[in-house]
Amino acid sequence: MQAPVLQSMTVEILVDNFFDIFEPSRPGLVERAVLGKLKKPLVAAHGLAMLLTLVHNGRQTKILVDTANSPLSFFNNLEAMEHKVEEIDAVFLSHGHPDHYGGLLEFLSRRGPGLPVFFHEDCYFPKLLVTPRGRVGPYVLEKEKLVAAGAQLHENQGPALLQDLALLTGTVEATTPYEKPLPGFKRIVQGNEEPDPFSDEQALVVNIEGKGLVVIGGCCHPGIVNMTKYAQKLTGVNKVAAIIGGFHLTAGGDDLINGTINGLKELNPNLVLAGHCTGFKALTRLAAALPDNFMVSCVGTKVMMGG
Ligand SMILES: [Fe+2]
Ligand SMILES: [Fe+2]
Repeated sequence: MQAPVLQSMTVEILVDNFFDIFEPSRPGLVERAVLGKLKKPLVAAHGLAMLLTLVHNGRQTKILVDTANSPLSFFNNLEAMEHKVEEIDAVFLSHGHPDHYGGLLEFLSRRGPGLPVFFHEDCYFPKLLVTPRGRVGPYVLEKEKLVAAGAQLHENQGPALLQDLALLTGTVEATTPYEKPLPGFKRIVQGNEEPDPFSDEQALVVNIEGKGLVVIGGCCHPGIVNMTKYAQKLTGVNKVAAIIGGFHLTAGGDDLINGTINGLKELNPNLVLAGHCTGFKALTRLAAALPDNFMVSCVGTKVMMGG
């Protein structure tokens, strides 16, 4: 499936787990928030939300990728970064975990009816997490509430285009031996609890003129290398400009961290911007292994590609 070739894209990290004012910028590619220039303080939270500005045929479209864990972090940071709900043309949910859709209903109610919302139909399965400290959930993305809020739902299973601007991969094909669903994650299907295969998580892929693919993941439960390789296969484009998202690595142990580092080295993107659920240990390992192209995703970070 062809991913349309865009002139440029910016990615702004609205909500993420980290904020460190001393993280460096990379002129022309990655800009960090400047404290004195913010309208109000940014907050970090366990969740993810990004704002994409896509430029195609001279026209600008703003896509919200995930809506953080709650309206609190989402609206605080949207305001701090001087954006308004009215600017946003569509929403994409990376997968069906509440730290990615926690602000969605409040956002829809403020934005008004008719907004396109894209996600995999398996996001509707109730989700649970079994931890050493007990069970968390189930959490449910409720279709009735989305419909009542006036959302224009676009549910997919396989590859699909988002408004002829970006490719959604659909359920990710697993090809690496080291990326497997982690055992603590469960979903409920027809009343039965089962290990979550993460069929609901998909990457959003943008093809930038002269640069290559930008692969954006939420938690990357299917594996960031699987997701990127699948994006390459679907688009027929091998060059990877950037990989952005939470990689969920520390919880998977050393084999997963080592395998992913080698996989990323082979993919050789110009930028790896990882945050959210990647985990501190994996972030430090990535920073050491990819010194020239790894950066931590912090709230307020802006990535500029092409144009
Ligand atoms: Fe997450
Ligand atoms: Fe997740």
